[in-house]
Amino acid sequence: MYSLDLNQMSQNEFLSTYWQKKPVVIRQGFKDFTDPISIDEFAGIAMEETVQSRLLSKKNGQWQAEFGPFESYDHLGDRDWSLVIQALDNFSEEAAALIEPFRFLPHWRLDDLMASFATPGGGVGPHIDNYDTFICQGSGKRHWRVGDSGPHVEVIAHEALLHVEPFEAIIDVELAAGDILYIPPGFPHEGIALEPSMSFSVGFRANSAISLLSGFADHLIDHDLGGQLLEDPARQVITKSGEITKQDYASIKTQLQNLLDDDSLFQHFVGNFLTNAKHELDLMPSEAPFASDEVSELLGIHAIKRLGGLRAFYFSDTVNEGVCYINGEKVSFDCEIAPAIKLLCDQVIVSPEELMPWRSNIAFINLMVNLLDQGYWFWSEVE
Ligand code: SIN
Ligand code: CO
Repeated sequence: MYSLDLNQMSQNEFLSTYWQKKPVVIRQGFKDFTDPISIDEFAGIAMEETVQSRLLSKKNGQWQAEFGPFESYDHLGDRDWSLVIQALDNFSEEAAALIEPFRFLPHWRLDDLMASFATPGGGVGPHIDNYDTFICQGSGKRHWRVGDSGPHVEVIAHEALLHVEPFEAIIDVELAAGDILYIPPGFPHEGIALEPSMSFSVGFRANSAISLLSGFADHLIDHDLGGQLLEDPARQVITKSGEITKQDYASIKTQLQNLLDDDSLFQHFVGNFLTNAKHELDLMPSEAPFASDEVSELLGIHAIKRLGGLRAFYFSDTVNEGVCYINGEKVSFDCEIAPAIKLLCDQVIVSPEELMPWRSNIAFINLMVNLLDQGYWFWSEVE
């Protein structure tokens, strides 16, 4: 269990002073920090087919990028390269534990846990992210520079690397294991390893209006909705046929607005959209379907744990009516089990004690059988 210490600052103070406003170094945010995963295990994960990984290096002043899965690292020297894995939380339960201390922020804002191993001189280069990141320094030391937000010129350092031109630092620090650097979107930054080192970035991303709109359009198409044509049976004779009148413009806008104002429709879309997995899940569906009595019995012995990277959310006004969203799908359930569903969505791990009241509830057991069969939840030891 990692426990976050914001250095005398309350979580509320952090949010009001720094969140989305300015970067800050939190020295020893994680006391006595040890890497959740060894460098060998990390390098092994980047050899897997489903994992998104990159090797970045600089040769004769030129940035190079290679993409995983990797077969070997023998061609690399002992300097100036970095191995980056996206969504490490989907592939390592131990690494996913680093997300837990940040649950004072809503999980729908979470993007993923990105991690890197870098040899001395290695890094990903100076860049700007469009997400809030908590860069948690693991073993080894890195030198970090962060510039102010504002206009910066971005340059394509390699077809896969968008960098930023040199910037003046407002933060210039050496981070050691357990130190955390929080950076809001828009602040240029660069970390360079001083020693072989690991770094774990817990990233929070917000959707742009354009990605929401294009997701909404896909949702309408998938559900065969929004196909109604504009109707104007009360049309009057006009004299200027080239004009789009204010009234016509308003009715065109209303046509679209009505879809957004239909809360049951738009909420359904938002629930599906926000629970869509951002990166491939490491799904291991059960080989044989679970039986209800077996699940009921096991719930009394084992905790249940949500698969790393799986997203499960609810809206406070519809969860009590028996609706939640899991992995991009609307899930309906008997509204009497809503308190148990909230536990599944709010917590990564739920203990037998917490599930005691639901162990003999048929509606809950049936849902659990389904979730376990799909590999969305799995049995875990009580922590
Ligand atoms: C890194 O781990 O080297 C990069 C993290 C970041 O800049 O977001
Ligand atoms: Co970054």
